[in-house]
Amino acid sequence: MKTIAVLTSGGDAPGMNAAIRAVVRTGCENGARVLGIRRGYLGLMHGDMFEMNLRSVSDIIHRGGTMLYSARCPEFATEEGMQKAIEICKANEIEGIVVIGGDGSFRGARDLSMRGINCVGIPGTIDNDIGCCDYTIGYDTCLNTIMDMIDRIRDTSESHDRCTVVEVMGRRAGYLALNAGIAIGATSILIPELPFDIEKDIIERMRRTQKTGKEHFIIVVAEGVTEKLEAQGIHGVSSLAKYIEHNLGVESRATVLGHVQRGGSPSAKDRVVASQMGSRAAHLLLDGIGNRVVAMQKEQIFDFDIFEALNMTKSIDLNLYNIAMEISI
Ligand code: ADP
Ligand code: F6P
Repeated sequence: MKTIAVLTSGGDAPGMNAAIRAVVRTGCENGARVLGIRRGYLGLMHGDMFEMNLRSVSDIIHRGGTMLYSARCPEFATEEGMQKAIEICKANEIEGIVVIGGDGSFRGARDLSMRGINCVGIPGTIDNDIGCCDYTIGYDTCLNTIMDMIDRIRDTSESHDRCTVVEVMGRRAGYLALNAGIAIGATSILIPELPFDIEKDIIERMRRTQKTGKEHFIIVVAEGVTEKLEAQGIHGVSSLAKYIEHNLGVESRATVLGHVQRGGSPSAKDRVVASQMGSRAAHLLLDGIGNRVVAMQKEQIFDFDIFEALNMTKSIDLNLYNIAMEISI
């Protein structure tokens, strides 16, 4: 009997549970022993795992977070940590591991694969920032959460003729900010991938919009632009709100949406994609194939060599940004 395992690693994302469910059910239905590893690579290094069956994953498809818990574990990235993990795999007869997480987690999966433990990665992160994939599990749910939250902010912003600066997640990527910005009609959108100038891209745009009769504004800022804001003398979104109020005389507020963005019941899209990806990953391992990353491109599920996947890049859709700038005025 084959033994495969599954873990979730890095920042959690809605839909991870649906992926775990698909891995476990696919494994069990095809005669494998399936182990659930708690808290990602941390749990792997310490042998924190349990045998799962068809019923272990009942009633989780609609839940946010991850029933296996997640962790960031710098020790695992060292040779010592890696050896500990390999010993545990040998002791538990683990032949393959499905790793659900972001590109950091995939680097760990690559390193384990290089040392003889078959790993298959599934992209799970709200940031949608994995080069080989058009889509990562959790992104759709997160985007809709942000949209819902900002719709609420807009109600009060409009009632008071205010400007609200909203910071959304995305340390290195602006997919959430750009798409949410379009979905809620933000006057300006700041993302890490594109240069910006506060005067030109915020103050002048707001002034122009004011002249057409608009009196309330939403500015969406990705978490990852903090350093670029600092370089322009702005220390965070509260400071940006004050700057806007001072320069335009529009009463302004700042909201950092924070971790509310990472929770909640996964959308239908996240549940379906997670189920497809979990199934593909488990079948690969059952066929003895490892060192792969499952990916979605143009709505189809593929799998790539991890090394190649980690070298792939994707870029922000400039056309989408230009559309936003043309119509959100
Ligand atoms: P994500 O998977 O969401 O990108 P992290 O970057 O925090 O999240 O990575 C999750 C975990 O993956 C880390 O805590 C570490 O255990 C492992 N990891 C990250 N980078 C590497 C690396 N270069 N080599 C080996 N393991 C890594
Ligand atoms: O990678 C997902 C993400 O939510 C990023 O958007 C964010 O920058 C980061 O994780 C925050 O992580 P944490 O608060 O868990 O350290």
